Amino acid sequence: MTPPLLWAEGLSRSFAVPGGRRLLAVDGVTVRLERGRTLAVVGESGCGKSTLGRLLLRLYPADAGRIQLDGVDIETMPNLALRRRIQVVFQDPFGSLDPRQRIRDVLTRPMRLHGLCGRPAALLRAAALMERVGLSPDLLDRFPHEFSGGQRQRIAIARALSVQPDIIVCDEPVSALDVSVQAQVVNLLQDLQRDTGVALLFISHDLALVRHLADDVAVMYAGRVVETAPAAQLFANPTHPYTRALLAAAPRTEVGARQHVPLTGEPPDPTAVPPGCRFANRCPLVRPVCRENPHPPLLAVSANQFSACLFAADLPAVARPETADAAATPLANRIAVYRSARDAAARTTP
Ligand SMILES: Nc1ncnc2c1ncn2[C@@H]1O[C@H](COP(=O)(O)OP(=O)(O)OP(=O)(O)O)[C@@H](O)[C@H]1O
Ligand code: SF4
Ligand SMILES: [Mg+2]
Repeated sequence: MTPPLLWAEGLSRSFAVPGGRRLLAVDGVTVRLERGRTLAVVGESGCGKSTLGRLLLRLYPADAGRIQLDGVDIETMPNLALRRRIQVVFQDPFGSLDPRQRIRDVLTRPMRLHGLCGRPAALLRAAALMERVGLSPDLLDRFPHEFSGGQRQRIAIARALSVQPDIIVCDEPVSALDVSVQAQVVNLLQDLQRDTGVALLFISHDLALVRHLADDVAVMYAGRVVETAPAAQLFANPTHPYTRALLAAAPRTEVGARQHVPLTGEPPDPTAVPPGCRFANRCPLVRPVCRENPHPPLLAVSANQFSACLFAADLPAVARPETADAAATPLANRIAVYRSARDAAARTTP
């Protein structure tokens, strides 16, 4: 059987914090990503999303677990070979580009570093990449400070694509941008994925956005993945009380949305994680047994859906199944409008 493009198993990472304690940021996380697919990682601030992304990029060493690309352990790969295959686009478009480098160098240096082509070919490719991300090649001589946030994020995407990676880790790539610019950048990422087959690990707070662009979703809570499923399945029938609470808390505009289950309280202190289910202090369905056993493992609820709730199979039915337009935030609406225009154009193009 062909191994998955990316397979990470049992990943853990803690950090030393003052007082001699350890802060558990990621704890036993397993994720899988296939070619050309988008896996969204969602969850509240501090749940470990960025740390997971950095572990996958090997920017942090893992305390435990392993990561494989096409069945090969990334620990056996030289840095350069790994970076050629996994690239990253960070949230901050102002901090992620070297202010002293002209865009020409930002785009050509990775190609030359990886030995993909000589300078003339790299320059031609840099111009093509600029066009591909919707910027004029005439701007190649400029410096990052001469661009807006959205333009810089396009350049960061072009830089990531310049080495033709298999995977791009996108850590909240649009959350620092205006809504109208967010939609353009998300659409660009999707178009590029369609054209190049690159797989995306998309870290996001925005569930409406995730509903529109992800193939699969991993929901993180307090360092653990508590539910994972194909996006449509997860939004239609979430099987972890935390996922349900997150969806209920997401902004939505339509009348009669799903029953509201408020998400009150705080996640546990990551330097003193209590025994038992980590969601127990906020869970409306908690029972004594939830605190008496270790944090539940992810178990299959159906063929492709896994939940870390002891009572996943007994949760009350969802009040109203999710519909395609249910997660209607302004950003999601803009993306939907763009998509239908693009699909209509594709139908009329011979
Ligand atoms: N270098 C570090 N040193 C110490 N603690 C860290 C470090 N990086 C992250 N943490 C802690 O690890 C936990 C997970 O952080 P992480 O940045 O991965 O969360 P996140 O889900 O990406 O949050 P956000 O949505 O706010 O970006 C947090 O408690 C954070 O304070
Ligand atoms: S195991 Fe118990 S506390 Fe944890 S999510 Fe399920 S019902 Fe809630
Ligand atoms: Mg983060």
